[in-house]
Amino acid sequence: MAIAPNLPIPHVTLVLAMSLDGKIADAQRGAARFSSAADLAHLEEKVAAADGVLFGGGTLRAYGTTLSVRHPDLVTQRRQRQQTEQPVQIVWSPSGNLDPTFRYFQQPVPRGLVTTAAGAHRWRKTGLFEHIWTVPEAKTQPWDWPWILAQLKAAGIHHLALLGGGRLTAELLSYHCVQDIFMTVCPLILGGETAPTPVDGAGFLVALAPRLQLISHRAVAGEVFLHYQVRNSPSGAGNP
Ligand SMILES: NC(=O)c1ccc[n+]([C@@H]2O[C@H](COP(=O)([O-])OP(=O)(O)OC[C@H]3O[C@@H](n4cnc5c(N)ncnc54)[C@H](OP(=O)(O)O)[C@@H]3O)[C@@H](O)[C@H]2O)c1
Repeated sequence: MAIAPNLPIPHVTLVLAMSLDGKIADAQRGAARFSSAADLAHLEEKVAAADGVLFGGGTLRAYGTTLSVRHPDLVTQRRQRQQTEQPVQIVWSPSGNLDPTFRYFQQPVPRGLVTTAAGAHRWRKTGLFEHIWTVPEAKTQPWDWPWILAQLKAAGIHHLALLGGGRLTAELLSYHCVQDIFMTVCPLILGGETAPTPVDGAGFLVALAPRLQLISHRAVAGEVFLHYQVRNSPSGAGNP
């Protein structure tokens, strides 16, 4: 597992919902609309706490949309904290191959794109993204997440909510770039070898697996809300 160099990066909070058998969507890899209204409110709270939200292109293709902050109390709290009205909603898409008719592009939120030079070229003149972070080719093999996150931090994103999917989560965890994990366990079983899990990619050998500390747990109407902290984040990384 790669170790993050001591770059200033945002505090990264992963928020996901999964089935009891550890799937974040069904085998068709569509939108994951299986959690409760309570879980959606919990997710909106985490989004509202962040300066930026990061998700993968696979997730945007599944939903076509993103979760904005709508609850008036959460909007007021953002104003009181002197945050922008909405966090910047950032998609990681190396190819930039995203459909401009997605509702995401009409939502009243600032949008960001983390991509390659070719991916950026498609979007540069459209004005649909307020921020495009073009990652030099040398930093895409593999993707240099500490460096990318340092660019986000330099742009004023001190708290980043990471919303999946499994491929993107694996990328950041492999660099020890995630500090907090909020996982909602939902009372259903999805199964299926092709269904995404919270962390896909190559996986970790047991000896090198990120270790977690349970911070809190609560059960609400059949769902279990878990908060873990990642114990082996390098010191300094993720400090706001
Ligand atoms: N339950 C939950 O809380 C939750 C949350 C989020 C997502 N999900 C589910 O997770 C699924 C999406 O997760 P995901 O892991 O498929 O996608 P993802 O992590 O959202 O995005 C994958 C990204 O990886 C990039 N990529 C780089 N190399 C790749 C390669 N060799 N093959 C494929 N992609 C590559 C893709 O880039 P390009 O854009 O260039 O293709 C894409 O942007 C959806 O079913 C969604 O509903 C569930």
